Amino acid sequence: MNMIRPKADCDLCPLCKERTNIVLPSGNLESRVVFVGEAPGENEDLMGKPFVGRAGKILDDAFAKAGIDRESVMITNTVKCRPPNNRDPTQEEMSACRPFLDSELESRSLIVGLGKSAIRDIIGYEGPMADIVNKIHTVTIGGNVVNFLPTYHPMACIYRKFAREELMRTISIVKEAML
Ligand code: URA
Repeated sequence: MNMIRPKADCDLCPLCKERTNIVLPSGNLESRVVFVGEAPGENEDLMGKPFVGRAGKILDDAFAKAGIDRESVMITNTVKCRPPNNRDPTQEEMSACRPFLDSELESRSLIVGLGKSAIRDIIGYEGPMADIVNKIHTVTIGGNVVNFLPTYHPMACIYRKFAREELMRTISIVKEAML
């Protein structure tokens, strides 16, 4: 994998102004499977690691239930810096970070898009989530065709049982793909 990383003092978009840390991918950087979230939140910004706060706990629980070691897959975000007050990243911010994301995603077997922002950024879909969740798509990145599996963001699962069940289905599909 030939991943490009932002410079330590990256100022390609306005998110640089308020960030504490740039949040780079974590887990097995060589994994064939990559999970892509939206953007770092407060805990991620402080610790410099994706999905270590509340959303991370939900994701970790789903991995644990399915018997997947979180460290065996790669986890990243569409943008590497926290948007103020956890607002959605803008198109401009996602575009500025896109070369880093593309370099993280090319040559993988399966990309899991966690939530609307990741799905919009990666395949340009903006329709209802229910129509797309857990349906395998393909996306061409850097000339390679990669499978893309859209699902609910862990935070969307907190009060919604059906979303939690779909996220568990996603993780089961990932487990099969990793065998
Ligand atoms: N939500 C995300 O989308 N990504 C994180 O890293 C944390 C919370």
